[in-house]
Amino acid sequence: TQRLLIDTDPGVDDALAILMAYRHSRIEALSITAGNVGLAHTVANALKLTELVGADTPVYPGCPVPLVLPAEDAAHVHGMDGFGDAGIAPAHRAAADEHAALALVRLARAHPGELTLVALGPLTNLALALRLDPDLPSRIARLVVMGGAVTGRGNTSVSAEFNIGFDPEAAHVVFSSWPMFELVDWEATVRHALDFDQAERWFASGDKRATFYGAISKKTRAFNKERERPGLIAADALAMAVVLDPGIVVRAEERHVSVELNGALTRGATIVDWDRRGGKAPNARIVLDVDHARFAAMIAQALGAA
Ligand code: BDR
Ligand code: CA
Repeated sequence: TQRLLIDTDPGVDDALAILMAYRHSRIEALSITAGNVGLAHTVANALKLTELVGADTPVYPGCPVPLVLPAEDAAHVHGMDGFGDAGIAPAHRAAADEHAALALVRLARAHPGELTLVALGPLTNLALALRLDPDLPSRIARLVVMGGAVTGRGNTSVSAEFNIGFDPEAAHVVFSSWPMFELVDWEATVRHALDFDQAERWFASGDKRATFYGAISKKTRAFNKERERPGLIAADALAMAVVLDPGIVVRAEERHVSVELNGALTRGATIVDWDRRGGKAPNARIVLDVDHARFAAMIAQALGAA
């Protein structure tokens, strides 16, 4: 099994991804960023998740703000507390003292070539870690990023996806210095929305993880329905499915991806050189489709509903 470093901003769909990781793999550490909600909430939520599954995974608090410009959170989707304001009790455990970016650098050095890094939030901590240790990519076995909108249909602005739009400079640092990473974008997650009725059946299974996820995702599901989404969207869970079961990918393309920093309408957009016009070597393997039934089955398992 892979050993995972998960950089995350929990966040409703982050929680599902982390539950999947606990079910199928080993989590070495959770490094936390601000994003969906402020850092105090994302750290508190990560601790709640570790307690739910009875794990003692260290939780490293990272950056409270983006690298350059302030950004808006996504509390209107994830709830003011990031967990759907479902009244989940605070954890008894405490976070670690070390900053997330320092922990990422240290852990990668301690276990060269052994760790898979999974980025489920804005890329602020990763960008800092890369500036602290430019050789970081050579020490990490695999980087999978949830982010971007590869044909330009964003979710936080017309053109930008949330994780990239929240901190475009950080995404630029990562995309321009990581030789090859895997990208699971927003548009793929819309294609792989989960059937609302099937999700209701999972949440009713009686397992504590299912009950928990049903509770924290209630507002997001209402939001998804309001927006006439094809189903429950679980972006970070899709990225985690690709991490845990690489064979689940049925369509992927290697291309060069960069981040727009200046556009008045396109700041934070991911620009993909689909037709290979720019002459730059691909830096990303863009996952376009997965085996949907296998994806749904992994979620059911993670929630103890299979
Ligand atoms: C991404 O943004 C966040 O709101 C979600 O947790 C996910 O990581 C989807 O655009
Ligand atoms: Ca996230």
